[in-house]
Amino acid sequence: MDNRPIGFFDSGLGGLTSIPYLMEALPEEKVIYFGDTARTPYGSKAVTTVRRFSTEIADFLVKSNVKMIVIACNTVSATCLDDLRARFPEIPVVGVIAPAAEKVAETCNSDSRVGIIGTKVTIASHAYRSHIEEIRNDLRISEAACPAFVPLIEEGIIKNEIMDMTIRYYMDDFVKKNELDTLVLGCTHYPLIKENITRIYPGLSVVNPSSEVVGRICDILKEKDMLAHESDFTNVFYASDLSENFINMIDHIFENVSEDKKVKFMNFDLEKERLNGLL
Ligand code: DGL
Repeated sequence: MDNRPIGFFDSGLGGLTSIPYLMEALPEEKVIYFGDTARTPYGSKAVTTVRRFSTEIADFLVKSNVKMIVIACNTVSATCLDDLRARFPEIPVVGVIAPAAEKVAETCNSDSRVGIIGTKVTIASHAYRSHIEEIRNDLRISEAACPAFVPLIEEGIIKNEIMDMTIRYYMDDFVKKNELDTLVLGCTHYPLIKENITRIYPGLSVVNPSSEVVGRICDILKEKDMLAHESDFTNVFYASDLSENFINMIDHIFENVSEDKKVKFMNFDLEKERLNGLL
C-alpha cells in the first residue's frame, strides 16, 4: 500500500482528460496535477525547451513526494520519457504513447488504415509509428500534425464552428486520401474535441491515449503493491497560470465526478518558485 498521490503533468489542461478514467478505475487514488498553462503549447517548441520545462515540473512533483509520475502529454512522452526515467530511477515514470500504441497493435486488422494526429513535435518524432511497428508492421499508418488545435482548446473554443472548421482544415484530406478507419488522438488535449471529430467523421474508430494510460497505471501500482487505501490527501491541481479557462475546464471535465472528489486549485508562480528553489 502507498497512499502518496500520483503526479500528472501536461503543458496545460490536456492531461486532465486522463483523471476521470483514473478516478473511475482507482477511486482511492489521489493526484497532484501540474498544467504548465503559462508556457503552453509545448508541441511547436524545440525539443530542448520541452525537455527543460518537463524536467522542472517532474522535479517539482518528485519534491512533492508523488509515488509515480504520469506524463499526461504526448509531446513530452514522445521526446523526454527516457530522460525522465533516467533522472528518477526510484519511481515509475509512465508515458501515454506505449499503452495506446499497444492498443492499436492489438485491436486493428491487417487491412486497417490508422491515422495518428498530434502536435508538430509528436508527429515529427514518429513515436506512435515506431511503437506500433515494433509490435507489428502490417498496418498502414499515416500521421498529421494539427498545431492549431491546442491553442483553441486552451481558449475553450470547442463547441463551435471555428473548431469544426479547423478540424476540417487539418483532417478532411488526411482522412479521405488515406481512407482512415482508425484514428489515434495523439495529444491529450484532443479528447476534448472527440465529439466534434466523431460527428464530422462518423466512420472513424477512435483510440484515446488518455484512457489507455490508466490501464498501465493500474497494472504498475498493483504489481508493485503501491495502491492507495483510505488516503486522506486532497487532489491538488496546479497551473502555472491559473486562468478562468483552466478552472472552467476542470468543472467541465469533472462534471461526472462526485463532489467529494473535487479539488484544490493552486497557482504556481514559476519565477517565484524558481527563486525558492522549488524548481
Ligand atoms: N497535451 C499535449 C500533448 O499531448 C501538449 C500539447 C501542446 O502543448 O502543444 O502533446
